[in-house]
Amino acid sequence: MNLSSKDNKSKTPQHIAIIMDGNGRWATKRGLPRALGHKKGAEAVEEVVKGAKELGVKYLTLYAFSTENWNRDEDEVKTLMGLLREYLKRNLIEIQKNNVKIKFIGELYMLDKDIQDSIKKIEADTEKNDAMTLCIAISYGARQEILSAVKKVVGLVKRGDLSEADIDNKVFSDALYTRDIPDPDLVVRTSGEQRISNYLLWQVAYAEFYFSDVFWPDFNKKHLEKIIEDFNSRERRYGKS
Ligand code: IPE
Ligand code: IPE
Ligand code: MG
Repeated sequence: MNLSSKDNKSKTPQHIAIIMDGNGRWATKRGLPRALGHKKGAEAVEEVVKGAKELGVKYLTLYAFSTENWNRDEDEVKTLMGLLREYLKRNLIEIQKNNVKIKFIGELYMLDKDIQDSIKKIEADTEKNDAMTLCIAISYGARQEILSAVKKVVGLVKRGDLSEADIDNKVFSDALYTRDIPDPDLVVRTSGEQRISNYLLWQVAYAEFYFSDVFWPDFNKKHLEKIIEDFNSRERRYGKS
């Protein structure tokens, strides 16, 4: 079958979720400190966000820092938070120019107050942008997200705003941090690891998975393009025959 470029574009996954892994090993392999790997990784984010938009992706979710990552060395956590601060400051202008809407998901209350404030501001400032939604998972853990959704739903039932019989997939999805975002069509993990590491556990029920051996700092638009091509060759069945 010969697909025209228009047809190809129409098959671009609507939502790609990436686990950006391998910054540390990228640096160690070169005899460099892990912090440098994270710095390079932050640069790759900028290129991939731009690339994804150009490829027609409507939602891009990036796993930047997990709830379990709080357990890393204090120095490494400091480096990562410093990079996040820089990213929030520096990229706003670029993101506005590109018409990208930014959203953050995770246990955001665990972040320093100044970061929380910048996040609120950047979300408000980009709210009306509509070329692509960039969702950044930071201090994020899927189990924590699910537990918080359970508590929200229980609260609604207790207050009499919802009957137990009406709890369904939609009600539960709407109680998650990702309420305005469709489920990912494709999950990509870089660095060769093949695990989910507490990422979007509810939302990936029918996602396709792609594991790339490339360390995140080396990942670029070309890699993403190839992965989308692979995605297009798959048949999604959703349990049907
Ligand atoms: C991903 O790279 C970034 C974060 C998890 C914050 P890693 O720091 O996990 O790099 P590796 O897996 O040790 O190589
Ligand atoms: C997952 O990577 C989290 C992010 C990429 C932000 P990790 O490097 O923390 O995951 P594990 O520890 O290898 O499972
Ligand atoms: Mg890792």
